[in-house]
Amino acid sequence: MIKNKPLPDNLDIYVWEGKSDIFDRIARCLVSAEVDVIRADGMDQLGDLSPTSASIAIISVTVIDRPGFNAQEWQRTHGMPVIWVAEAPRAYDSRVYPPEYSHILMLDFTCAELRRQVYTLAGELQRHGHVGQEKDPFIAESDVMRSLLRETQAFADCDSNVLIAGETGVGKERIARLLHDYHSSYSKGPFVAVNCGAIPDGLFESHFFGHAKGAFTGAMLAHKGYFEQADGGTLFLDEIGDLPLYQQVKLLRVLEQNKVTRLGSTAEISVNFRLVAATNRNLRELVRQDMFRSDLYYRMAVIELRVPNLEERGEVDKIAIFKGIINQVFQNGVRPDQPVPEIPDWLLRQVASTRFLGNVRELRNIAERVTIIHRQLGDWDRVAIDRVFMGLREFQETLPDSSGTDSARRKWDIADRNRIIEALDAHNWRRQDTANYLNISRKVLWEKMRKFQIIDGDTASKEDLEA
Ligand SMILES: Nc1ncnc2c1ncn2[C@@H]1O[C@H](COP(=O)(O)OP(=O)(O)OP(=O)(O)O)[C@@H](O)[C@H]1O
Ligand SMILES: [Mg+2]
Repeated sequence: MIKNKPLPDNLDIYVWEGKSDIFDRIARCLVSAEVDVIRADGMDQLGDLSPTSASIAIISVTVIDRPGFNAQEWQRTHGMPVIWVAEAPRAYDSRVYPPEYSHILMLDFTCAELRRQVYTLAGELQRHGHVGQEKDPFIAESDVMRSLLRETQAFADCDSNVLIAGETGVGKERIARLLHDYHSSYSKGPFVAVNCGAIPDGLFESHFFGHAKGAFTGAMLAHKGYFEQADGGTLFLDEIGDLPLYQQVKLLRVLEQNKVTRLGSTAEISVNFRLVAATNRNLRELVRQDMFRSDLYYRMAVIELRVPNLEERGEVDKIAIFKGIINQVFQNGVRPDQPVPEIPDWLLRQVASTRFLGNVRELRNIAERVTIIHRQLGDWDRVAIDRVFMGLREFQETLPDSSGTDSARRKWDIADRNRIIEALDAHNWRRQDTANYLNISRKVLWEKMRKFQIIDGDTASKEDLEA
C-alpha cells in the first residue's frame, strides 16, 4: 500500500555508499518511488553537497571512522536527515553507533524496509515544511502584482535569461525563485543564489569557477563553483549592478561559451543553467556611465521584469501581506493549535496608511515585531505597537529626499536599518549577541538603533540606558 503513495516530487536522495552493488540495490528499490537518486562518490562530493531542495542522505556507516568526519556535525550543517547503512552487529553497539542516529538500515535490508524509512523521513520533512507544501506563500492581491505573476508564469518556461529590477525589499529574489519553480525542467535542478555585492575581494574566481584539489594552499578538496553548482538549474545573481567590470567580462565569457575551467585545472567543464539576475540599481544608467558592460546587459536582459514597490501596489497588498505574515508567525509559533487572534481595525488602518520605504521586507519586519508584542503582552497592545510605527515614521522623516546622491544614501540607510532589525530579531533582541553577529561594538549598535529609530518591542532596554 505504502508503495503507491507518491513521495514529494522535489525530493532528492543522495547515496554515499562505496560498494556499487549496494548503491544499485538502493536505486532499484526507489525506482518506483520516482525520486532522484544521486550517487555521491566519496568524501569530496559528500562535502560539496549543499542541497537546494529537500533531500535525504543514505550513507554507509563506515564513514564515521574516517579521520576528520563528524557525523553529527555533518548532519547539522547539511540539514539532511540521514539513513545510515550498517552491518547488523555494529548498529547495536551504542559506543560506536550513538542512539541519536535513529535511522539505521541493515546491510541485508529489504526494499520494503528502505522505502518505509524514506517515507518516514519524507513525512517528517513535510511536517517541518521542507517539501511539498508552501511554507512561505507569495502574497499578491493587487492588480499590478497579479499581472506580474502572470508574466512570470508566462516567461518561466522559456530558457531566456531574465533581469529583475525593483527597489530594495520588493521581492525580486522571490520572483526569481518562482521563475525557477515554474520551469518544467530547471525546477528539477538546483537554484543557486549569489549576492554579487558580498563576494570578498580576490575570491571571485574560486567562488564562481571552483578549484581543483591542491589548487592553492588550503584547497584540500576539489570544489565546484557557482556555475557548476547551478548546472541543470537556475543561477540567480542578486545585486548584479555591484559586479565590477573585470568580473563582468568573466561572467560574459561563461554565458557565451557555456564552459568553465576550475582554478588549478585545465579541463573545461560544460555547464547549462538559466541565468536570472536582479538589481535595485538603474542598469541602463550604469551602462551609459560605462560602469556596466552593454554586451553583458543585453545578454542578461533578454526578458526584463520590474517588481513594483509597495506604494504602487496599494493598501490591498499591504493588508494582505501583513495578515499573511501574522498568520504564518502564529501558525509556526510555539502553539500552532491556537487560533490566530483577530487583528483589530485600528492596526490594519495603521498598516494601510504607512509608507514602507523598505517595501515588503520592512512590512514583514513590522508584522513580526507586532506579533512579538502580542506574544509578550498577550494582546495587541496599542501603546507598544504605536511606538513601533512611530519609530519607523521618525526614521523615514530623517531620510533625505529621493533625488540624486541623497537617493543612494536613503536606500543604503533603509537597507542598513532592515539588516539591523533582522539581526536583532534573529538574536531575540539581545544586543550583545546582535553586535557580535554584525561584527560591531554594542555602542555602535546602540547608536545605529538610535539613528534609525529602532525601538524595542518592549520598552528600551535598561542595560543600554545604564551603559
Ligand atoms: N509577495 C510577497 N509575499 C510574502 N513575502 C514576500 C513577498 N515579497 C517579498 N516577500 C518577503 O520580503 C522579504 C524581501 O524579499 P526579497 O529578498 O525577495 O526582496 P529583494 O527585492 O530581493 O530585496 P533586496 O533588494 O534587498 O535584495 C523576504 O523576506 C521575502 O520573503
Ligand atoms: Mg534580493
